[in-house]
Amino acid sequence: MQKEKILVIGASGQIGVELTLTLRKLYGNANVVASDLREENDLLKGTGPYVSLDIMNKEMLHVQVIRQNITQIYLLAAILSATGEKNPNLAWNLNMQGLLNVLDIAKEEQIHKVYWPSSIAVFGPTSPKANCPQHTIIEPTTVYGISKYAGEFWCNYYNHRYGVDVRSLRYPGLISYKSSPGGGTTDYSIEMFHEAMEEKRYECYLGEDTYLPMMYMPDAIRATIELMEAPAEKISVRTSYNLSSMSFSPKQLAAEIKTFIPEFKIEYKPDYRQAIADSWPQSIDDTVARSDWGWKPEYDLKKMTADMMENLK
Ligand SMILES: NC(=O)c1ccc[n+]([C@@H]2O[C@H](COP(=O)([O-])OP(=O)(O)OC[C@H]3O[C@@H](n4cnc5c(N)ncnc54)[C@H](O)[C@@H]3O)[C@@H](O)[C@H]2O)c1
Repeated sequence: MQKEKILVIGASGQIGVELTLTLRKLYGNANVVASDLREENDLLKGTGPYVSLDIMNKEMLHVQVIRQNITQIYLLAAILSATGEKNPNLAWNLNMQGLLNVLDIAKEEQIHKVYWPSSIAVFGPTSPKANCPQHTIIEPTTVYGISKYAGEFWCNYYNHRYGVDVRSLRYPGLISYKSSPGGGTTDYSIEMFHEAMEEKRYECYLGEDTYLPMMYMPDAIRATIELMEAPAEKISVRTSYNLSSMSFSPKQLAAEIKTFIPEFKIEYKPDYRQAIADSWPQSIDDTVARSDWGWKPEYDLKKMTADMMENLK
């Protein structure tokens, strides 16, 4: 059997760092090539190969794929929801063209597997707010959501038309302590932890009762690996799978943090990100991921908060 050689694009980002480190443990350091437009994240230094790569430069990407004998690609480079609303053209161009470049090269070079994350941002104000199902009304109102939904259908198209084995998850807001978040609407949760530890106070840019689907990074990484390692015949969804573990509001997170830091104070000053958050569902039904490839989350709000506090000490 041919040895797998993996390229992670966007490896210096919030997910990329932790996913690269996990893939290196599983496949061997030398078999996971990290790449990004920005410099190598400190946590990756010395753990395996790194190349500087712009996903918009298709030729450069193609050369790297051939030169490094790449057999799998994880594409994480994107402009996220809050940053996307500030520069819609850039978000659309990068999120779409980046994906199309990877899918084309995967088709041409017969890459074994491609991973590309979507987001709960595909859902819009007309989608069900509670337990939003896999198949439902999807009318996104942010450029990020539009690009993710279009991307899902490109993945589906390349799978059905050209047999590219591309797999995808609709991540909720991701909470982590290792690398900093990259401009999403749910970044407040990570900021709240840091500010609570350092300043004992936090000004939240979402209203106290803004209830959103969230997930702790270890669960997101495990879901990604489990999806990618599942036999192809178990993957019935070739757009992107709903994925869920917990939902909470800023008020609920603050109350949980206060059990560790009783003097912590929070104020709420909603800004432009409130409208983005209000357009999304409050909770997600991930029954299809559970039944197709056995997804099961491990962390709830309490367990995640305890682990974050322990690691941020
Ligand atoms: N973090 C979340 O909460 C979340 C939730 C849902 C979906 N996602 C998706 O997961 C993926 C990764 O998200 P993240 O949070 O790690 O984002 P991030 O912003 O932290 O990381 C993205 C990385 O891509 C790199 N990048 C940007 N433009 C590039 C280019 N032209 N060429 C090469 N690299 C480039 C950036 O330098 C950055 O290191 C994205 O597709 C995002 O939409 C993230």
